[in-house]
Amino acid sequence: KPPVNPEIKKDAQKVVDSFTAEEFKAKTAFCRCWRSANFPYCDGSHNAYNKECCDNVGPLVISAKAE
Ligand code: FES
Repeated sequence: KPPVNPEIKKDAQKVVDSFTAEEFKAKTAFCRCWRSANFPYCDGSHNAYNKECCDNVGPLVISAKAE
């Protein structure tokens, strides 16, 4: 199987990103496809990946308030 992560921080043993709750005052979308050029944030690259690979992945969206 190909790796889930094709190129992000490949020199690290494990890719971990940490944030505090105070950082979510605005809506934030986190990448779950591992294709974003702005990882760990979603930049919309999942759209091209989904089309190319017939997949349906999308971001994790977190906001401080319910919409
Ligand atoms: Fe990866 Fe949007 S770019 S989920």
